[in-house]
Amino acid sequence: MLLFCSLQATAQDVPLLGKSSINDVIKAMTIEEKISLLIGAASEDSATGAVVGRTEAIVPGAAGTTVAIPRLGIPATVLADGPAGLRIAPTREGTDATFYCTHFPVETLLASTWNTELVSEVGRAMGSEVLEYGADVLLAPATNIMRNPLCGRNFEYYSEDPLLAGKIAAAMIRGVQSNGVGTSLKHFAVNNQEINRTAIDARLSPRPLREIYLKPFEIAVKEAQPWTVMTSYNKINGTYASQRADLVTSILRDEWGFEGLVMSDWHGGIDAVEQVRAGNDLMMPGTARQREQLREAILAGTLSMRDVDTSVKCMLEYIQRTPRFKAYAYDNRPDLTAHADVTRRSAAEGMVLLENRNEALPLGRQIRKAAVFGTTSYDLIAGGTGSGDVNHAYVVSLIEGLEKAGIKPEDSLRKEYEKYISIETPKLKQLAWFMPRERVLEMRVEKERLRKLAKSQDVALITIGKTSGEFVDRKLNGNFNLTEEERMLIDNVCEAFHAERKKVIVILNVCGVIETASWSAEPDAVLVAWMAGQEGGNTIADILTGKVNPSGKLPMTFPVAYADVPSAGNFADPDRLTDKDLVDLMNSLEEHTGDNSQNRKDIDYSNYEEGVFVGYRHFDTQKRQVAYPFGYGLSYTNFAYSDLKIELSGDLFTVTFEIKNTGNQAGKEVAQLYVSAPGQDMPKPAQELKAFAKTRLLEPGESERVTLTVNADDLASFSEDESAWVRENGVYEFHLGASSRDIRLKENVEVAGKIVERVYPLIIER
Ligand code: BGC
Repeated sequence: MLLFCSLQATAQDVPLLGKSSINDVIKAMTIEEKISLLIGAASEDSATGAVVGRTEAIVPGAAGTTVAIPRLGIPATVLADGPAGLRIAPTREGTDATFYCTHFPVETLLASTWNTELVSEVGRAMGSEVLEYGADVLLAPATNIMRNPLCGRNFEYYSEDPLLAGKIAAAMIRGVQSNGVGTSLKHFAVNNQEINRTAIDARLSPRPLREIYLKPFEIAVKEAQPWTVMTSYNKINGTYASQRADLVTSILRDEWGFEGLVMSDWHGGIDAVEQVRAGNDLMMPGTARQREQLREAILAGTLSMRDVDTSVKCMLEYIQRTPRFKAYAYDNRPDLTAHADVTRRSAAEGMVLLENRNEALPLGRQIRKAAVFGTTSYDLIAGGTGSGDVNHAYVVSLIEGLEKAGIKPEDSLRKEYEKYISIETPKLKQLAWFMPRERVLEMRVEKERLRKLAKSQDVALITIGKTSGEFVDRKLNGNFNLTEEERMLIDNVCEAFHAERKKVIVILNVCGVIETASWSAEPDAVLVAWMAGQEGGNTIADILTGKVNPSGKLPMTFPVAYADVPSAGNFADPDRLTDKDLVDLMNSLEEHTGDNSQNRKDIDYSNYEEGVFVGYRHFDTQKRQVAYPFGYGLSYTNFAYSDLKIELSGDLFTVTFEIKNTGNQAGKEVAQLYVSAPGQDMPKPAQELKAFAKTRLLEPGESERVTLTVNADDLASFSEDESAWVRENGVYEFHLGASSRDIRLKENVEVAGKIVERVYPLIIER
């Protein structure tokens, strides 16, 4: 007991945070106070009765709270999800007021805009809700690589490409943090699968780790300094990410210069002592067991006070920045109307037009009556489930969006769908709270009925909906691949409407990549609307009617078949697990079993055999046919590329070129610069994205001269032998394209070889 009291300062000279130096505050702290600061406030500490707060107390529904130490002027701070907007409880006891937040588009859609300025604007709006609802940190953005399309949380991630994922994450961080609130860049690192995520061991070698999986974090940290980074649940080569000093301290802090706080994912890791030693400062949401672990180790002298103080210092520095510390008077009234507008506009830039035969879209003015199929048209999916969900006040359905745009959905069909949905929805099961809900099967519409509708209506719209969420990965059958009912619906509607020379438009309200190759030739147009947030129906209508010309491009490849995906042989197959298996694996999260001792392939460990050949790096190198390539997306207009000039000054390439709108609609174009390395030193992908830009809205006939820059050092690959970024000597081809498979201009550039930087060798096996 003496130990706990000995450092207690007397009341009159107690240093207060903000008034005294952080070092003086630390000196005045008892060991119990230090421990309480490093463990979140989720549960009371029954062992000591120490002052621990309650997550619910400050902002109901927030994911977590840190512990206050009032005598030292340290307030509790509030951490809340997530990537598509603030997730807090929409109602509270004792008041009629509501606390709804804006459901912005999911991250995948935002990456599909390829527009960093727009993503920052979304971030600014999101961050203002964080501020005005009294939270301090938004637990976002998530920037894990989309290694495999079945990952249940890909909708919360940006891309299969590290440059795009890193740049968009940086833009989001800048936007959110411009409000004086923090972000938490997550899940650091190599968190690519949901099944058994708290124990799975991601086994990979240093090169893919560096080039693919750490790269987006490196870019975002260096460019935007998030206030916090959240470590991931999984192990990397045998050790929990949150317990790896090489990752959290040597690489993140020492090498990349991260200046903020590192927190665990909720219940992530199993050993709080190892976490503190590694530099994972804060354990969230906090458990009594973790407090006990720290206390015992400190008393036994196995956890040094130096390590504890290092983390305490990070906590205090973080707390000093927060609105709560600054006593910001939030009003619980963010500008939800303005943010709905940001949602609608940003979503329109991220929807991707995959097919548009004979200019089926935009719908002409004469198209006034639509037969609208697909349950999701009436019950649009705004976002995914789990911590990436948002408690929104409303979601605009496609039906509502169309009506507002002056297109009348056929009434009897509408009534039938609405009745079907109201009867079928209550029958759906949800394996557990927070997990994705099943969706109703598509309603059958008889052929005779379709023939009549095709005669009376001007156009057919079919929405296909696929959702996913935390804890489970997507099923191959029925989620990645369409169901029988969906296939039949597309076949039959196309047959009936084409017989009447009427168009059929398919809208994909999906969480990620789906199989398209077997059916995409049937409809006249296919639009990927992703999960566009609460204004979804308005945004889709904006694109269908041509109010907005689509300019989104895919941030990942659509393969012809799932089996083509390079990690398909090394990824858990949810179709093979029973519902009970899935729930048991999920429950292990709260029970801290974190056990992968059964050594089941793809459940207890995953071999990253594909190395750096993820996504288009694989498909382009193998010259494999894909359904839609990385970077692909159609517009209602056309763009011509010309006059490529590349200049080298010092180590900086400046690439300029002309983009001209050669069609007859105003539009924006996303230009992508890929570089193909000589590949003599080590196997290299056929090409890699090195820069991109989106033009302003170009009127027909208008041109823009676009400038991209590439640092020659960024042409380096990671040499495992030297543990260094090495730039290979030789001729590099610069490919300027409208997608990874639509290269418009090329030029060769000589680059001198060099060891760019020797870096910390991540320990492979422990
Ligand atoms: C998720 C995090 C989230 C946290 C808090 C975890 O289950 O993995 O992304 O921020 O919960 O809700």
